[in-house]
Amino acid sequence: MVRRYQAEPVAAHTIDRMLRNAVRAPNAGFTQGWAFLVLDEPRDLARFWAATTPPGTSSNRWLDGMRSAPLIIVPLSSKAAYVRRYAESDKGWPADEEPRWAVPYWHVDAGMAALLILQTAVDEGLGGCLFGLPPDRIQAFRAEFGVPDEYSPVGAVTLGHPEASAQASGSATRRPRVPLEELVHRGQWRS
Ligand SMILES: Cc1cc2nc3c(=O)[nH]c(=O)nc-3n(C[C@H](O)[C@H](O)[C@H](O)COP(=O)(O)O)c2cc1C
Repeated sequence: MVRRYQAEPVAAHTIDRMLRNAVRAPNAGFTQGWAFLVLDEPRDLARFWAATTPPGTSSNRWLDGMRSAPLIIVPLSSKAAYVRRYAESDKGWPADEEPRWAVPYWHVDAGMAALLILQTAVDEGLGGCLFGLPPDRIQAFRAEFGVPDEYSPVGAVTLGHPEASAQASGSATRRPRVPLEELVHRGQWRS
């Protein structure tokens, strides 16, 4: 993750490539119950930070670095779109019954789309950081950008040319990487 950026904008064709790749993510039932809010105008970026920053927080190292990003893409997911899709005849789940997904596919799918945005950024020589929005700022975010209630931001992704002096600063610098052997269970779960 990159959390501080140069002022140079991200080229329009690069933004388009990120978005074209995002919608090639695997998605349950080919529902495509996702959407992407793209902010690359300084005024819109300022509106994003004003809406999502908790009141009373004006400046800190993380925020100052992230605010330098010339581009933010907000991937959103819609549970309602999956409920509608899975009520279609080839799936046949009643729309009024709590459906039987083992995990919320709408968030899984939008998360994979977000990863494709990040991977495309790296492929283009850029950097990015996916971060969560504070739960108590989601309504303000929706209101600011006219986002319908059925869409939830699964996070937001800052993107841009990495600031040359930017050092890794996230949790990964403070926590050890868990050894692969502890995470991978081959043939049988072993604790
Ligand atoms: C769901 C999710 C939420 C995250 N939220 C934040 C966040 O709020 N702030 C932040 O700086 N990074 C956030 N991150 C980035 C992680 O801190 C980062 O990916 C992780 O520490 C691994 O570091 P690396 O990607 O640089 O290897 C988030 C990542 C994910 C997947």
